[in-house]
Amino acid sequence: MRTTQIALALLAVLAVAGCGEKPKAEDKALTVGFSQIGAESAWRTANTDSIRSEADKREIDLKFSDAQGQQVNQKKAIRSFIAQGVDVIAFAPIVETGWEDVLEEAKAAGIPVFVSDRRPDVPDDLYVTFIGSDFVEEGRRAAQWLADKTGGKAVIAELTGQPGSAPANDRKKGFEEVLAKYPDMKIVYSQTGQFERAKGKEVMEAFLKNPLSKQVTAVFAHNDDMAIGAIQAMEEAGMKPGEDIVIVSIDAIKDALVAITEGKLNASIECNPLLGPFLFDAIADFRAGKTLPKRTVITDLQFDSSNAAAALPERKY
Ligand code: AHR
Repeated sequence: MRTTQIALALLAVLAVAGCGEKPKAEDKALTVGFSQIGAESAWRTANTDSIRSEADKREIDLKFSDAQGQQVNQKKAIRSFIAQGVDVIAFAPIVETGWEDVLEEAKAAGIPVFVSDRRPDVPDDLYVTFIGSDFVEEGRRAAQWLADKTGGKAVIAELTGQPGSAPANDRKKGFEEVLAKYPDMKIVYSQTGQFERAKGKEVMEAFLKNPLSKQVTAVFAHNDDMAIGAIQAMEEAGMKPGEDIVIVSIDAIKDALVAITEGKLNASIECNPLLGPFLFDAIADFRAGKTLPKRTVITDLQFDSSNAAAALPERKY
């Protein structure tokens, strides 16, 4: 009798202490595998920080993988997330094509996929939702700004982004769509700078040795980093960027707003990289059983000499 009482008391103590209890599903931290493109630009760094800090804030177990600019690494990371049995996969596809097989594998494993920043060219049933800016509209806005600034007359050199990526394809498309309305605006040179500052500089250095560059009156860069690289090349060649040549680019990073206040860059169309809160809200809504839109477009501003200085003190990236 005495032995039974002691055993019962011991069991009660163990139960209070929680020993031997299995964690309930809702006690377990949500595991999200995120495959990032790399660190090609200041935009990308701000995007990574936003994803990481938001996951931290929500105590999400984030498995973050940097693909260092290679699609093959992104696909490896997604396959490894599937093998680890994460709750959710999220990714920013470096290029538009080539994702169907790996997303089919995620679907077969029953893991929902969320797309952030760039659109992959896959059937709708392979992902839950896509959150990011409208890149075609950014291209249109850059061209319209340039048309208004130049009275519809410009000989343009274009620095394009990562070949095959949604922002490079779409920004070009939107820009050319507006140019079609202005017969005196023409792109005479187009070369990729891969969204990188150093490559933007290299491309501009090479172009300035080309006699064609003498005719150019404007530069359209698909992101600020390439525009800033091009500005450095122009300055080193003794030119006055922003005066000799009108420059418009995309992203509106802090460095670009500084360059605008210095008169070296003329305008930047915003592309908001702070996608962490949007992404994790969407994941939470989905897990709560809410129906999500297939596409969430992030609204963006634009900056030139009229508003860059005022925006600088509050600029987060
Ligand atoms: O996909 C967004 C683009 O990727 C940004 O405009 C560019 O800076 C980045 O590298």
